Amino acid sequence: MHSQVKVIQHPLIQHKLTLMRKAETTTTTFRVLLKEISLLLTYEITRDLLVKYEQIKTPLAPMNAPIIADKKLVIVSIQRAGQGILDGMLELIPSARVGHIGLYRDPKTLIPVEYYFKVPQDIEKLDALVVDPMLATGNSAVAAVERLKSTNPMSIKFICILAAPEGIEHFTEVHPDIPLYTTAIDDHLDENGYIIPGLGDAGDRLFGTI
Ligand code: URA
Repeated sequence: MHSQVKVIQHPLIQHKLTLMRKAETTTTTFRVLLKEISLLLTYEITRDLLVKYEQIKTPLAPMNAPIIADKKLVIVSIQRAGQGILDGMLELIPSARVGHIGLYRDPKTLIPVEYYFKVPQDIEKLDALVVDPMLATGNSAVAAVERLKSTNPMSIKFICILAAPEGIEHFTEVHPDIPLYTTAIDDHLDENGYIIPGLGDAGDRLFGTI
């Protein structure tokens, strides 16, 4: 496994992912689960955030207490399913800035087509977390990170929930410098570019457009 690939296998995440996969799981539950997994992932991914110390007073005594030094995060959501991860992350990091990349997969070629791109103007001072639940062929993730690199953020991490081996290979080949976080690596892609066994179309399940 490429050293930049990190599979977060916390039992709570694995349990929630199994519930998300089930065909009978409703849109309402799917949404809640994706948000909860995103919260847990955020906890792991932000382990390296720097803290500084601030002199405070508790009701009983003064103390030198840690607070996060570095609030310069931008969460870049690949539309539309990235929204599900974004919502969870913003709950833990409400001060994060937000960017959007609109890409759709051409159903015939599976090649991503960009239709929207908006990130903060001071992106050069920000650490970017690019989010999309599914890393399938890797085409969208590769294109999104490529586009984001052209704006020069301080750093980039890519975060998904489920990855296919083909997508990981593609992504790490093009972007070996970018850490990739996922909660599971599935078996393979089918002929339509869906992850097997996977969980179906994440956007459709999240937004109830099945
Ligand atoms: N996108 C999805 O939502 N699901 C897949 O299985 C592959 C790509």
